[in-house]
Amino acid sequence: SKDKLWGGRFTQPTDRFVEEFTASIQFDKRLYHQDIRGSIAHARMLGKQGIISLDDVENIVHGLQQILHQIEAGSFDFSISLEDIHMNIEARLSAAIGEAGKRLHTGRSRNDQVALDIRLYLRDEIIDICTYIDLLIDALLTQAENNLDTIMPGFTHLQTAQPILFAHHLMAYVEMFKRDRARLDDCLKRVNVMPLGSGALAGTTFPIDREYVAEQLDFPLITRNSLDAVSDRDFSLEFLADASILMMHLSRFSEELIIWSTSAFRFIELSDSFCTGSSIMPQKKNPDVPELVRGKTGRVYGNLIALLTVMKSLPLAYNKDMQEDKEPLFDTIDTVKGSLKVFADMIKDMKVYDDNMRQAAGEGFSTATDVADYLVRKGLPFRDAHEAVGNAVKYCVENEMDITELSLAEWQLFSPYFDSDIFEAITVDACIHARNVPGGTARERVWDEIVRSREAK
Ligand code: ARG
Repeated sequence: SKDKLWGGRFTQPTDRFVEEFTASIQFDKRLYHQDIRGSIAHARMLGKQGIISLDDVENIVHGLQQILHQIEAGSFDFSISLEDIHMNIEARLSAAIGEAGKRLHTGRSRNDQVALDIRLYLRDEIIDICTYIDLLIDALLTQAENNLDTIMPGFTHLQTAQPILFAHHLMAYVEMFKRDRARLDDCLKRVNVMPLGSGALAGTTFPIDREYVAEQLDFPLITRNSLDAVSDRDFSLEFLADASILMMHLSRFSEELIIWSTSAFRFIELSDSFCTGSSIMPQKKNPDVPELVRGKTGRVYGNLIALLTVMKSLPLAYNKDMQEDKEPLFDTIDTVKGSLKVFADMIKDMKVYDDNMRQAAGEGFSTATDVADYLVRKGLPFRDAHEAVGNAVKYCVENEMDITELSLAEWQLFSPYFDSDIFEAITVDACIHARNVPGGTARERVWDEIVRSREAK
């Protein structure tokens, strides 16, 4: 136990398996950069406040920079018996520079240190994820611009509902991803708060300067309660919740891409580089990427529930349970980044079969609402119009014909209000053109939203 930084009060060494069981170095080593950056800021503050000598500060900073190089060169030997990234680095520093290294942890605890490291790490990752969201939005906007004349059936209950522009459908996802991005931007405000100086739980007896540490690390705010600062993981939970909603959106989009690329629909084709074949069925081209993103959504929801459950009922302040915060967080970051990246590329490469879409848009009585609206414009109350068109649809179903095949005489069986202008009123183009309200599918409205979204960036 003498190799431990906390070995003083122990007589028995840690059980070998317990050592491995309680260690976090296997996964928290990815915080090395943040840990070193935080320690350098802390050491400089200790020096400025006269708590340690400026010579010590210089040695510490130099020593930490050496360690950073070693880790980045892959020559740093991480040790399980040193438990976590914080003690691995600190022990190595003391081994390298002696006394000064042992002064680094003055006025600090691993509890405020780990809170700082996660906040520094998550802050950069959120910014990175937002960049990936922007790339996906960009790919969607480009496809939307290219498909302003592509008409598809819009669905409710996955049954043909009304014709819409394919661009309008894509722009629905742009709205979702813009909200996801806004949520992450907002989350960032609460991540971006500096906890160091909270000590183990109650603050520290040394005359530290927390604002100076915050300044060096680019934090606009410091935490205001030491107990809260070392036991708060809301900021991670909030990120996981935002990530879950984002993945939910990606999973819905995935589902649609999968359906659209079936031979029954054939609305789109994903490029070969995002699909795989079957080892038995030679004709298969499977949409693996959207399927996998749809599947990975479960992993991210799981991570949110895992951390919520870890944090549930924990008494203040730090508890070892909280070491379980990192793997769900890291896994979510990796999953979200990977999913966004692959999606942006896939959307860019997606081939659109506009003829198939247009044909499907005209089927399934997709223009029935417009027939009812037509009658309303002629003076019939909407409920009566709905009834009359319902009867017309029934007639078409019974006679195995499409609504577009009805003659004027047949139309007039259902209402005297029908006139020869009915035919041009219910083309799919007219149906789309008529939905000229803000947020509607009319071409110029969709174009307005594309412009608005491009300008907002
Ligand atoms: N590895 C620990 C964690 O990730 C660091 C904080 C440890 N603090 C403690 N009192 N054991 O939570």
